[in-house]
This record gives sequence, C-alpha cells and structure tokens, in this order.
Amino acid sequence: MKLESARVLVTGGSGAIGAAVCRRLGAAGAMVAVHYLQNEEGANQVVQEIEGMGGTALSLVGDLADRDAAEQVVSATVSELGGLDGLVCMAGATVGGGPFDELSADDWRAAMDANLMTAVNAAQAAQPHLEQTGGRIVFTSSVRGLGLAGREGIMAYSAAKAALINLTTTLAKDLGPEILVNAVAPGFVWTKNYEAMPEQLRKGFTDSTVLGRFIEPDEIADCYEFLLTTEIVTGQILVADGGFTLKLA
Ligand SMILES: NC(=O)c1ccc[n+]([C@@H]2O[C@H](COP(=O)([O-])OP(=O)(O)OC[C@H]3O[C@@H](n4cnc5c(N)ncnc54)[C@H](OP(=O)(O)O)[C@@H]3O)[C@@H](O)[C@H]2O)c1
Repeated sequence: MKLESARVLVTGGSGAIGAAVCRRLGAAGAMVAVHYLQNEEGANQVVQEIEGMGGTALSLVGDLADRDAAEQVVSATVSELGGLDGLVCMAGATVGGGPFDELSADDWRAAMDANLMTAVNAAQAAQPHLEQTGGRIVFTSSVRGLGLAGREGIMAYSAAKAALINLTTTLAKDLGPEILVNAVAPGFVWTKNYEAMPEQLRKGFTDSTVLGRFIEPDEIADCYEFLLTTEIVTGQILVADGGFTLKLA
C-alpha cells in the first residue's frame, strides 16, 4: 500500500506516539483521521500541522471501549475521507495498576477496555471497509506483553498487551490475504508520562536497554510507516525496544 492519498484512521492520534505517526503519515501524503478521547486540543493541533503541510486531516472523538462509538468513528472517517485503507490502533493507557492482591474487577476491566477492547472494536468496525480496499491494520502492543517482560504493578496492562499479540496473529490468519494485520511492541518511548517518574526509575528503564536511552516518538513512527506499506508481512510483532528484551534473555 502506498501512503500517498491513503486514507488512514489513527486511534489515539492525540497522544504522544499517535501524533508522531499522524504527522509522519500526513507528510507522506496520506489523508489522516486523528482520533482522540479527551485531548481535543492535541488532536486539532495535529490536524492543523498536517493541513499546514498541504495535507488533509480531520479530528474525531470517541471512547473506543464502546462498540457503538467505535462504529461512529470509523463511519465518520469513511464518509469524510471516502473510504479506509489503513487503521492504526494506538489508543491505550496504563490503567488498572497496583499490587495483585489489591486489584479490583474494575481495575482489570479498565485495563482490558483501554488497551484490548479499543483495538478490537476499532478493527471490527473497520473490517468491511478495509476488505474493500485491501487495507492494513497495525495494533500497538508493548514489550510488557511479550514473553517474560510483563511488569508487576501493571500486570493487567501487561496482560491486555499480551492479548493484543495473540489477536494480531489470529486476526492475520482470519482476515488475510485481503487485510494484513501486524503490531508494534514499543519499549520505552519518551512521553510526558515519564516526566512525572523519579529520575532513578527512568534511569533503571534506560539502563535496561542496549541503546541506553529513550526512543523518540518520531523514531517509532518508522515502524508504523513500514507496517502500513508492507505487501508481504502479516501476523508479525515488530519489537522496537532499543534492545530491552534482548537484555532480559
Ligand atoms: N510510551 C511508551 O513508552 C509506550 C511503550 C509501550 C507501549 N505504548 C503504547 O503506545 C500507545 C500510545 O502511548 P503514548 O505513550 O503515546 O500514550 P498517550 O500519550 O497517553 O496516548 C494514549 C492515547 O490513547 C487515547 N485513549 C486512551 N484510552 C482511550 C479510550 N478508552 N478510547 C479512545 N482513546 C483512548 C488517548 O486519548 P486522549 O489523550 O485524547 O484522551 C491518547 O490519544 C499506547 O497504546 C501505549 O500503551 C507506549
């Protein structure tokens, strides 16, 4: 798939990584639907930046944990852009954290809703449109969803991101060859969420990688660009973690 004139919906486009992906797609000539939940200002800023480059973009609101809202976001994208060629599921949140013996059913549900169901609902709503165009789905997992890399304290988030990995491989078999389905599993990507953390914790994260530094949002956008344009890769998890999981081995 070529990005020039491609119609792509990015869920969580108002967030740090989502905004970087939207900018990258806009710069490549794609028409971008920038989805947000609460950060309307962030989404509109991304839209303005893409329009400033001479591109086409719009912002769309919706709680994608809700099936009907996901349907509305996808159908608004299709009617505004004239179809759908790519879906990037970026929406997610590190919610439902805490010690295992203190986690409530609501904590688990919150983590699953924000990270798994947002992606499931968006993909299900997008499927008929992507089938028409031979489109792409790119999910966003996390290194926390891989093998032994789940983290105590955010185990519901880790489990939801692990579920996305299984969903990626299974859905790739189910929807191929019309739709190619892949996922990115980012490591530590610098966002303002890390600013609030103690320096010692941040250092612990970067020391645990081969690169020894955070990844920039624009750097991880490379992965999404590749998985939206590949003609041959499907059912794969692109681990972009600066060597974090390598050092766990
Ligand atoms: N940063 C990292 O180091 C890292 C590492 C591994 C994986 N990830 C994953 O990468 C993705 C982006 O992370 P980020 O660091 O860019 O975080 P972020 O800045 O907090 O962005 C998260 C995005 O998800 C949206 N969102 C959250 N819950 C939602 C819901 N129920 N329905 C619809 N949208 C929802 C937010 O919308 P609003 O802001 O508009 O409310 C925001 O656009 C997430 O899936 C995250 O788990 C990040």
